[in-house]
Amino acid sequence: MRDWEDHWSRRDTPWDKGEAAPPLFEYLEEWDDGFMRGARVLVPGCGSGHDVRALAGAGAKPVGVDVSETAIEVARAHDPSGDEEFRHGSLFDWEETGYDALWEHTCFCAIDPADRANYARAAGRVVKPGGRLVGVFYLNPDNDGDGPPFGADRAEICRHFEPWFSLVRSRVPERAFPSRVGREWLAVFQRKAEATAGLR
Ligand SMILES: C[S@@+](CC[C@H](N)C(=O)[O-])C[C@H]1O[C@@H](n2cnc3c(N)ncnc32)[C@H](O)[C@@H]1O
Repeated sequence: MRDWEDHWSRRDTPWDKGEAAPPLFEYLEEWDDGFMRGARVLVPGCGSGHDVRALAGAGAKPVGVDVSETAIEVARAHDPSGDEEFRHGSLFDWEETGYDALWEHTCFCAIDPADRANYARAAGRVVKPGGRLVGVFYLNPDNDGDGPPFGADRAEICRHFEPWFSLVRSRVPERAFPSRVGREWLAVFQRKAEATAGLR
């Protein structure tokens, strides 16, 4: 497994573009329809917290989670007022449930592909029935499979989430960081009401 704390302690964080993911704004402006306003949103792999701050700016109540303590310190240092919520931990062990939504950006592609089923199970556990999993998924990073980031195709992503979520809408986002143009997939899933199998 990748030593994320080591990356953060050396500030070796080339994925950090210094701002929130452009597809997040595309989603908020074009597809959200006010869903995130007041919504409790889990942001796994939040890093320095750009997306968390963007979600808070849109009226959501996000909780940024990262497995690196240093990442959480960096995220908190961006907002000394402490208004934004950042917590140390792993999505895989996250116990708190009842979230209205989960925002995915560069966590799914960062973890070992063997852990994707664990990611999907955790998402199914934390998001409440009727809630949303909204994500921008990195499909084909330019590294010949030597990730992270690890690419994924749409069918594989759907296969992982489909025990707990239904795909509502998706597209290749029009807004993207320059190196990711045409390489991402913006997808909105809805948590199924009846799905509890495999969730502890
Ligand atoms: C590629 S970075 C992306 C950070 C941020 N989303 C961004 O785009 O700037 C992946 C992040 O996920 C975190 N991470 C990896 N595995 C995790 C897990 N199981 N639970 C929570 N965070 C995790 C890492 O520490 C790292 O900060």
